[in-house]
Amino acid sequence: MTAEATSSNLTGHNAIAEVSIVLPTYNESKNIPLVFEALKQCLKGVAWEVIVVDDNSPDGSAEVAKKIGQQDSRMRVIRRVGRRGLSGACIEGMLASSAKFVAVMDADLQHDETLLPRMLEELRSDQHDIVIASRHVEGGEVGDGLSAFREWGSNLANSLARRFLKVELSDPMSGFFMLRREAFEELVPSLSSQGFKIMLDIVATSNGSLRIKELPFVFRERLHGESKLDTLVTMDYLGLLMAKLFHDRLSIRFLMFSFVGATGVIVHLIVLKTLLATQIAEFSAAQLVATFVAMTSNFFLNNRLTYRDRRLKGAAWFRGLLTFYLVCSFGVLANVGVAELIYAQQPLWWLAGAAGALMGAVWNYVASKTLTWRQS
Ligand code: GDD
Ligand code: MN
Repeated sequence: MTAEATSSNLTGHNAIAEVSIVLPTYNESKNIPLVFEALKQCLKGVAWEVIVVDDNSPDGSAEVAKKIGQQDSRMRVIRRVGRRGLSGACIEGMLASSAKFVAVMDADLQHDETLLPRMLEELRSDQHDIVIASRHVEGGEVGDGLSAFREWGSNLANSLARRFLKVELSDPMSGFFMLRREAFEELVPSLSSQGFKIMLDIVATSNGSLRIKELPFVFRERLHGESKLDTLVTMDYLGLLMAKLFHDRLSIRFLMFSFVGATGVIVHLIVLKTLLATQIAEFSAAQLVATFVAMTSNFFLNNRLTYRDRRLKGAAWFRGLLTFYLVCSFGVLANVGVAELIYAQQPLWWLAGAAGALMGAVWNYVASKTLTWRQS
């Protein structure tokens, strides 16, 4: 055992943690030891622990964290296999805690860990339920951590949240916060494990019942590795806004699936029009080709967007495509069947047509969820 480990054991590692700091990680093997050291420095005198939630990163992040855990019991690790997603990882990490308070922080040194003792202070005072580190309150800054484009996107997202979710936060996209664990546990059944906006989800779901405190900080630049938040995250965000607008009666996945379905209609019409205009094919042949192109494009987009956490690759991609064709063929039957049934009762073309389309969409969604993108 190293001198370091012995001395830290003496300072009482087995003390029950007052705060668990959840670090979601994906390819952060270089950053994990640095963050852990930084936490040791700034949390002296606090009983804390870290819960790394790693989604089986190919760079061996979980292994790196477990090595630390062999020396220091304040490091705990959850290794998730076959799953991806920031919000889900944060939720699982917080659920694994028994501490009075839980915090979520990026594991890439972009979040200023020296804020943690102050966040803890605020919660201990029992004046607040959640403390959010914000880049947009007086004193907080985006620093060089965000590109101009991301900053613009971030501002847009903030105003949407304010407008539609009635959430008054200066930085609703922040992924750095601490809250009373019990408050979190109460809300957790209604939270979405999809996407990136875990804090916004918590606050929006709480419906104003959380007492919020915002503290400013400067978002730092990444030293090692790269950001995992690509432009698809914007889709997630819009999805969360929609789901909350519909009071969670519609799932984000279903909304994404329907959105992709709508793009499929456009693809279908463009292909049909092109084939007919160039006189390559007769109507029925053109319609058949257009249907296949649209189904393929829907499959491709759903695989990239709706189910990107379960994205099919290689042989599974082909199997998925075939099952998707199969599902959609039955979807057409469901669509036409329902439309005819309704039309027989009530000869309103738009009502029958819309009901048929909805039935088809619901069928395709439910069936492809279990058949094409089934959880392995
Ligand atoms: N377990 C797990 N699974 N962790 C993940 C995943 C995932 O699928 N995706 C990202 N992470 C981890 C990263 O390893 C990092 O520790 C943290 O989550 C944040 O991811 P980054 O990829 O570094 O995000 P960012 O810096 O671009 O975005 C930051 O700013 C956003 C607002 O603009 C984050 O703080 C976001 O939470 C925040 O919304
Ligand atoms: Mn980051």
